[in-house]
Amino acid sequence: MKNFYQSLKKSFYALAPLAGITDSAFRQMCKGFGADVLYSEMISATALFYNDKKTLELMKFDEVERPYVVQLFGSESKHFSVATELIQEQMRPDGIDINFGCPVPKVVKQGAGIALFENLKKSKEVIKAVVNSTDLPVSIKTRSKVKDIDILKFLDYMKDLDIAALMIHGRSAGQGFSGPVDTKIIKKARNYFGGVVIANGGVRNYEDTQSLLRESGADGVGIGQGALGRPWIFENLTTHNSQLITQKFIFKTAKKHAELVYKLKGKQGILEMRKHLCWYVSGLAGACELRRGLVKVETLKDIYKILSV
Ligand SMILES: Cc1cc2nc3c(=O)[nH]c(=O)nc-3n(C[C@H](O)[C@H](O)[C@H](O)COP(=O)(O)O)c2cc1C
Repeated sequence: MKNFYQSLKKSFYALAPLAGITDSAFRQMCKGFGADVLYSEMISATALFYNDKKTLELMKFDEVERPYVVQLFGSESKHFSVATELIQEQMRPDGIDINFGCPVPKVVKQGAGIALFENLKKSKEVIKAVVNSTDLPVSIKTRSKVKDIDILKFLDYMKDLDIAALMIHGRSAGQGFSGPVDTKIIKKARNYFGGVVIANGGVRNYEDTQSLLRESGADGVGIGQGALGRPWIFENLTTHNSQLITQKFIFKTAKKHAELVYKLKGKQGILEMRKHLCWYVSGLAGACELRRGLVKVETLKDIYKILSV
């Protein structure tokens, strides 16, 4: 089975997984602007083990999204095996990723995310379970460090496993989602690890991306918060084009996104779209006034009315 990571251009841009945000509609918007790889929201391996229908829905994707990677979180290797077999048979994405970086208490309490990263033995069992249950490339997403365990120690423990790619969020667990990114440790991991390395953290524009790539030596960059309300960031990164984005363009893009989410999720999609709409208008003149209306929209018509140019 071909490992799609190896055929990506150098340097490539991935939409990082964002729970509650990177659904099919948002991924398609980012793909339309040139994202090279798209990650799902994190999906519970335990929920899939119990065949939860809502969780199955969360993973759905459109063929245009390929290469598309489903990210799993959890802590029980048996749950990961069953979840992976189910994804392998029913979804056929291009890759399966395992979350080792989530610090959210609800996730950590079940031994997943950063709690799993700290438990090297269990982490190894989980990665093995996934690798042995699929012919798809398996990747991992980690922090640079969780308490006493850094990514180098982690990779050393996992060295005999067939891991195709690694996305490193270059911040320690204690840093949360902001602050400086440790490019030095990403570079060390790059030199140690045989697979594809994706550096992640703090990218907002072309200059950030170039310095992250230069300092880390990574093969690609993962973009999370920098894409919120700005899916066109992927086009800016590819064309080096930082031309001023007009209000007309922003409104047009937001409306296209809303139409897509409505097509895929109906009314629920419009409610979920409210946060995206607020991100789209942030920084615009009159953003406060616009947001007051956008947080209450219930229909596409409501959105058209507010975002009319
Ligand atoms: C709201 C939110 C949700 C996130 N959800 C996930 C997730 O489901 N899986 C994951 O591995 N990381 C998740 N992350 C972490 C991001 O993928 C990324 O590593 C982090 O935001 C740093 O990159 P950035 O500075 O480009 O945002 C999330 C981050 C945020 C802010």
